[in-house]
Amino acid sequence: MEYIIAPSVLAADFGYLHRDLEMINSSEADWLHIDIMDGRFVPNISFGPDITKTIAKLCSKPLDVHLMIVEPEKYIQAFADIGVMSITVHFEASAHLHRTLDLIRSLGLKAGVALNPHNPVSLLEDILTDADIFLLMSVNPGFGGQKFIYRTIPKIKKLKTMLDEVNSEAMIEIDGGVGLQNAEKILHAGARSLVAGSSVFRSSDPVHTIKELKNIPLHTYL
Ligand code: DX5
Ligand code: ZN
Repeated sequence: MEYIIAPSVLAADFGYLHRDLEMINSSEADWLHIDIMDGRFVPNISFGPDITKTIAKLCSKPLDVHLMIVEPEKYIQAFADIGVMSITVHFEASAHLHRTLDLIRSLGLKAGVALNPHNPVSLLEDILTDADIFLLMSVNPGFGGQKFIYRTIPKIKKLKTMLDEVNSEAMIEIDGGVGLQNAEKILHAGARSLVAGSSVFRSSDPVHTIKELKNIPLHTYL
């Protein structure tokens, strides 16, 4: 079964960004996840388009941008100009989600919608065919290194059923507290993209951890 491993650069050592991105380039990682935080939608500030541009120059993997910001529509063009692969905006931050997703797709990128842990997947019912990625937060967004919320597992199953019902090929991505301890459960529930920050960058051998995450022994019924 094919699935994506997307290490989150938020957990990298920014003093050694070049070294950490070389590590990602030499690994089996599929994408690099880019967490953009504005101190308004989430209680933390990370970095913006300029640093992302530097990352894009140093990283050979497709960039998966996660906008944890208010008014995300204002910054879509700036990230598209950098040549990122996808842009995901929060359901909770978008007053006109259809318009925002259309804009992302019109720029030739994959469009994603992210949902905070307190929100039910039923909220996504009317946008199932308008996005390529559905990102379920498995921690409250804002910080790396938090504990996985297990209530996410039944949400993945429910969303997978909803997507199947409309014949959608969209991918479910899980973000927050993901590691070797829960990857199989998450994949089994129906997710096809795993974001992993601290479990990769805090590992003593990140390349090996990425390899292990890419090769989770899955039961044959998957
Ligand atoms: C949380 C971010 C995540 C975070 C994941 O707000 O959206 O992408 O970097 O980090 P870990 O894997 O450490 O929970
Ligand atoms: Zn993220």
